[in-house]
Amino acid sequence: MTDPRERLRETFGGGGETWLVSAPGRVNLIGEHIDYHGLPVLPIAMRRSIRVAFRARADRQIRAVSAGYGARAFEWTPELAPTAAGDWENYLRAAAQAVSRQWGAGVGVDAAVVSDLPPAAGLSSSSALIVAFTLGLLRANRIEASFEQLMEVLPEGEQFVGTRGGGMDHAASLASRAGCASLIEFEPLSVRPIPIPEGWGFLAAHSLQTAEKSGRVREEYNARRAAGTAALRRLGFASYRAAMEEPKAAERLAAGPERDSFLHVTSEALRVRAAVSAMERDDPGEFGRLLLESHASLRDRLKVSCPALDRLVEIATECGALGARLTGGGFGGCAVVFCRERDLPAVRRGLIDRYYARSPEFDEDQHLIGAEPGPGALHAQKA
Ligand code: GLA
Repeated sequence: MTDPRERLRETFGGGGETWLVSAPGRVNLIGEHIDYHGLPVLPIAMRRSIRVAFRARADRQIRAVSAGYGARAFEWTPELAPTAAGDWENYLRAAAQAVSRQWGAGVGVDAAVVSDLPPAAGLSSSSALIVAFTLGLLRANRIEASFEQLMEVLPEGEQFVGTRGGGMDHAASLASRAGCASLIEFEPLSVRPIPIPEGWGFLAAHSLQTAEKSGRVREEYNARRAAGTAALRRLGFASYRAAMEEPKAAERLAAGPERDSFLHVTSEALRVRAAVSAMERDDPGEFGRLLLESHASLRDRLKVSCPALDRLVEIATECGALGARLTGGGFGGCAVVFCRERDLPAVRRGLIDRYYARSPEFDEDQHLIGAEPGPGALHAQKA
């Protein structure tokens, strides 16, 4: 990966104090489409990230360049509006807006962004960009922010871009610990590192169908959230945590998307609990089974999978994986594949031969990524 400090110098010239921040992408192991209902999730941070080199400016200009997406510049005002849908400047604006909301607008930056995370893959590259840029703006303004303060503004920032997501991606990117999955709870906010047992291995395998967050995927995603919330309201619960106390509540709903969403959300929350305990007692068979169940629920109840992801999950298990499921928002993007570490080469080989063989666009470095659990931005070694 190019050093973003070099890009910064090439684009904006040398001189001044240069900082570097990096925020990793994540692979969600289990707990899908439930963070925005306040229920716990279990992601890992990847060892791939968005890296930003930046220098503070004396005025309010924010200028940024990214290898794949070009250069952008705008004035940091206290009330920023989004720019054209799908433009990467929205992520920079979301970060600036997140900082303004908590601390007010400050001095701008010149910045260069470099990434080794595939975009639109369900690996949270967009949240990693918002996290990294937010940390950059804070550092340029000499503001020390706590994890809790960041979590108050970052998920909101994502909604600025258009998806009404939850807080999983930001929490994972910030607070993960190397070698551990993070059990993230939202009410109240907490992150508990769960050590991954020795000999467990994960891959993020791309379906080769991209899942752009703008457009149709955004509408579908927001519709799932709305259906889940409508079900809750119809049943008269104040929250999903309260709904979990009444296991038979779904019987009071008529068949349809609301009931399906409710069933997905409540069953997925139970699977997260069971997955944590399987991890803690080193039971890979049970953990894999839970991943497969999660995928089936996302496919059949929430209907956020697609034929490519279903096939990928099926082939992964036929090639020796103990479990696999779509990870992230769905509608394309990646599946997380779980197997014994010693079986990783065989599973990888099997996927290449049976899933990717006829796809000329397949690039192993971008589409079949070893997912070793890395540290979040708050715990990374300083560059
Ligand atoms: C996206 C969102 C997350 C989460 C997942 C689905 O990645 O950003 O907050 O809702 O979808 O689990």
